[in-house]
Amino acid sequence: MKTLNVKSVRSYDIHIERGLISRCGEIIKPLARGGKAMIVSDTNVYPIYGDTVKKSLEHSGFEVSTHIFPAGEASKQLSTIAEIYNSLADNGFSRKDFIVALGGGVTGDMAGFAAATYQRGIDFVQIPTSLLSQVDSSVGSKTGVDIKQGKNLVGAFWQPSVVIIDPDTLNTLTPEFFADGMAEVIKYGCIKSLPLFERLEQENAADIIEEIIYDCVSIKRDVVERDEHEAGERMLLNFGHTLGHSIEKAYGYTGITHGQAVGVGMVIITRASETAGITPSGTTERIENLLKKYNLPITDKTPLDEMASGALGDKKASGDSINIVLLNKIGDSFTKKLKKTELLGFISKSEL
Ligand SMILES: NC(=O)c1ccc[n+]([C@@H]2O[C@H](COP(=O)([O-])OP(=O)(O)OC[C@H]3O[C@@H](n4cnc5c(N)ncnc54)[C@H](O)[C@@H]3O)[C@@H](O)[C@H]2O)c1
Ligand SMILES: [Zn+2]
Repeated sequence: MKTLNVKSVRSYDIHIERGLISRCGEIIKPLARGGKAMIVSDTNVYPIYGDTVKKSLEHSGFEVSTHIFPAGEASKQLSTIAEIYNSLADNGFSRKDFIVALGGGVTGDMAGFAAATYQRGIDFVQIPTSLLSQVDSSVGSKTGVDIKQGKNLVGAFWQPSVVIIDPDTLNTLTPEFFADGMAEVIKYGCIKSLPLFERLEQENAADIIEEIIYDCVSIKRDVVERDEHEAGERMLLNFGHTLGHSIEKAYGYTGITHGQAVGVGMVIITRASETAGITPSGTTERIENLLKKYNLPITDKTPLDEMASGALGDKKASGDSINIVLLNKIGDSFTKKLKKTELLGFISKSEL
């Protein structure tokens, strides 16, 4: 088993090993303060992994209840949180009891937010089962829900007691969701690790997924340890996301995945940066080849002016400037402040 520790206001371990979910009870046991566990999961994941997790928790002596919600981003809203509160209260959950988030990022974000707020905060455990949640959302303590005005607009920073990553769960993930998570994996290579990027080029990620997850989690861990509340370095994790988010918005969040949009965002911003003489030429082509290798698109029909205006309306763009993330070279990134009026001009360089 590989373990990483995240230092935070409340530090926690991240364990990575194939088959680990069947031992979750014994991992949680020494950390638990109360005897009740509620598994929060969705209608896709619970039927596959729910029994294994429930049995392991029961075997370790916990009294287990479940709250299962319809799979998908559409569930990530306050009404689902209210239902989770009701389940917790109906089952007599006290401040010492805990929630187990079993599923992808939607489950983790919601279970975490419910844990952050039920009785002013109870413990929770992350068992991420999608590639995106294993390499990204389960690390860094951001929890929350969407409201009709935008994604993730309501939430809290809330650390899990432990994160249990079982790469075997990825065997049941659809190829589309696997590709979705690969966009974030490629992003980590771009912003922080040339060796990771080169391995992704040379090998097949699925064959070495356990090591890849470890590399990505340790990159994210290092970044969030230095900047949990996103004052500086954490912004680097948004590489490709400024334009990616606008592309998702232009689609109304259907018909394109987050990873597909982020991949295109990485390509456009890097090509513009190459033209501007910041990133060495040939970098964009390498990113494109890697995206193609992992079944992600490299272009999109959304017009650049729509991408720019979408980015300027984002919650992260305040005042008259916007931070974009660029590459000095693969594995080395930095943020650049642009005046909002300069953004369209900058990304238009991608078409020169
Ligand atoms: N908190 C953060 O820091 C952070 C970071 C990035 C993304 N997010 C959030 O994460 C969410 C996206 O995460 P996601 O892509 O995991 O979404 P998701 O939870 O909806 O999972 C994707 C799909 O895969 C299914 N699934 C998950 N694991 C499976 C498995 N092992 N086998 C079969 N099916 C499985 C789910 O049921 C769902 O249909 C978004 O809401 C995003 O805002 C949060
Ligand atoms: Zn992302």
